[in-house]
Amino acid sequence: MITPPEKLEKLPPYIFARIKQLALEAAAKNLDVIDLSMGNPDLPTPRPIVERLMDTVGNHPRTHRYPQAKGMPKFRRAVADWMKKRFEVELDADKEVCALIGSKEGIANLCASYLKPGDIALVPNPCYPVHYFGVVLAEGVPHLMPINARNKYLPELEKIPEKVARRARLLFLNYPNNPTAAVLDDSSYLREVIRFAKKYDILVCFDNAYSEIAFDGYRPGSFFEIPGSRDVGLEFHSFSKTYNMAGWRLGWACGSDRLLGPLIKFKSYIDYGAPTFIQLAGVKALEMWPDVATELANTYQRRRDYLYEGLVNLGWKLEKPKATMYLWAEIPEAFRRLGSLKFCEKLISETGIALSPGVGFGQEGEGFVRISLVTRDSRFYDMLLRLKKFMGVTGINIRAPRAARAGQAA
Ligand SMILES: Cc1ncc(COP(=O)(O)O)c(C=O)c1O
Repeated sequence: MITPPEKLEKLPPYIFARIKQLALEAAAKNLDVIDLSMGNPDLPTPRPIVERLMDTVGNHPRTHRYPQAKGMPKFRRAVADWMKKRFEVELDADKEVCALIGSKEGIANLCASYLKPGDIALVPNPCYPVHYFGVVLAEGVPHLMPINARNKYLPELEKIPEKVARRARLLFLNYPNNPTAAVLDDSSYLREVIRFAKKYDILVCFDNAYSEIAFDGYRPGSFFEIPGSRDVGLEFHSFSKTYNMAGWRLGWACGSDRLLGPLIKFKSYIDYGAPTFIQLAGVKALEMWPDVATELANTYQRRRDYLYEGLVNLGWKLEKPKATMYLWAEIPEAFRRLGSLKFCEKLISETGIALSPGVGFGQEGEGFVRISLVTRDSRFYDMLLRLKKFMGVTGINIRAPRAARAGQAA
């Protein structure tokens, strides 16, 4: 009998797929589903980017051919220029930038290109799933580093046993963080990371997917702003969130030739890179920075403020995030014993509200839910009204969002 390999068999169903299934079941029961489970931007890609794609595909048939696997020179130059403009980071566009078919692809392939079976990778818990499952699929061994309010969501490197550190090949970091929305306050932690990575020869994979979605004047940095980072790190960026291009599948990895080279080589045997017309649309997106990104961040900030206020009013405990498109909230006391998965199942089936259970991002996420800010203000209002009923809260008023009060969709 032909059977799938054990490493695949052992994987649990992908958490978002499981929640999606529950949301579909709720919709089949005629519940009006408010799906805030995935970080899947609800707003369209800005029009000029769409137009660039249509023009390119329609009028430039050379872009229908195989792309250059590591990205076309124009794309890599646009990325290098952007990294310089945004972070003052200098990159050689030819050797230090690689186009990705979304950063998820790049991170999974990084694991496959750097790990041999049994190698250890240091992975925050909770984390964005590919940081963990990329390692598992490469037959590496994840060593989990809890992140929580107590340690300010920073992996405690001093707690990693010496013999684990010696066998570790990769260390994942992601700030602004998914799912916790935590950010780095200053560079001191990254300096410690660089010392640690140099001591044990560990490659740091710095996932910067949310660098442009930040609030209240907070500005996320690049790993490469820190001295010594280029000797030990690679950084990953994504167009998905910054430009509402999640479905286009485009991102990049960057870093020194020496560290990026193995990923470029590995990928050249697996894929042909992101389609040329998508890369050219990406160039247009980068040209439109910072205006589109600022406008989008303002939208998420307004949503964050409204939903945060509403949840706190209902008695939820959470921190007001300085970045990302997520709220990371403790499950209200009365429901905590259910655990986050059961809580989310109950919430979907009774109210149509789909959230991501914290445990789906790792055991340390138990007791929390992640709420994605991916719907209109008026739908958040609906959500709060439903939550109020679900929780049996009385005696408080849910404030309608401004535009909804004026009778418009927000
Ligand atoms: C931390 C983090 N990294 C990477 C990704 C994947 O982004 P992409 O769409 O570029 O594959 C996501 C998507 O949610 C994410 O949250």
